[in-house]
Amino acid sequence: MPDILISENIRGAAVDALSQTFSVEFAPELWKAPETLLKKIPDFRAIIVRNQTKVDAQLMAAASGLKVIGRAGIGLDNIDVASARQHGIPVAYTPDQNAISVAEIALGMMLCLARMIPAADADTKAGHWSRHAFVGTELYGKTLGIIAAGKIGFLTGRRAQAFGMRIVAHDPFLSRDNVLLRELQAELASLDDLLAQSDFVSCHLPSTPQTMGMLNAARFAKMKPSAFFINTARGEVVHEGDLIQALKQRTIAGAALDVRAKEPPIVGELESMPNVLLTPHIAAFTHEAQERVTYAVCEDVARALTGKPLIHPAY
Ligand code: MLT
Repeated sequence: MPDILISENIRGAAVDALSQTFSVEFAPELWKAPETLLKKIPDFRAIIVRNQTKVDAQLMAAASGLKVIGRAGIGLDNIDVASARQHGIPVAYTPDQNAISVAEIALGMMLCLARMIPAADADTKAGHWSRHAFVGTELYGKTLGIIAAGKIGFLTGRRAQAFGMRIVAHDPFLSRDNVLLRELQAELASLDDLLAQSDFVSCHLPSTPQTMGMLNAARFAKMKPSAFFINTARGEVVHEGDLIQALKQRTIAGAALDVRAKEPPIVGELESMPNVLLTPHIAAFTHEAQERVTYAVCEDVARALTGKPLIHPAY
């Protein structure tokens, strides 16, 4: 009987090492076939997923032998953690391991938007030399609004400080005397105040019933017409139709989206808007982050299967 099922594309030295001790079935496309997964799951003691496999109540009810769920990443929106707890199945995740990569791409997107780097690159490669078409703005002296100042938000703020930006944060789970906010010299603000003050808004919200569609027409209307919106968190927190209208009507200046309401998205208006930068949910995809994530999740799965407590339990 195999021990561990990997239902998404998660590879590397840590997976190879895990396979020396446990039998591992590597099925990177299985997340696309939930019925097949449901039939297979009773045979396994562990499952390792990224963000595509839906580990829901039905799957857990069928997973009679499951001793641990490993989530290679930080977001838990594809795992029914309450149901895992009910079934007594521990969930291991990797809350820190990709945070630097996400923070770095958030800064990269800010620079790309402010200096129109992708458009200037495309134009120059097309044979032009249009220097005056690409007069951008500096990050220096501008206000960065961080929505949700957890690890990734904090690390984004730290990097923005080096550019001489002022930080405003919105996070209902932080108090004004929070030491990390003090470290950022950040002001804690309501979401509406943050949106009104910021030149760049970087979204780091998890996807929960409370945050779904939180960035909607009313919220975009609070932003400055010169402001840029960056989302490297979860697509569901943005009402995409409202964002498209805000971009079309120049309620805001531009947006960079690494995550979408539906992934992969149906190609639509965003894909052809010049003031929009799109990437395919790659914020955590660096060699360093993936090595850390894979190592951490494999280590915890091995620990659970040998009766040891998890290092990174999700509950
Ligand atoms: C995460 O939640 O860790 C990132 O969005 C990447 C992923 O889901 O795999």
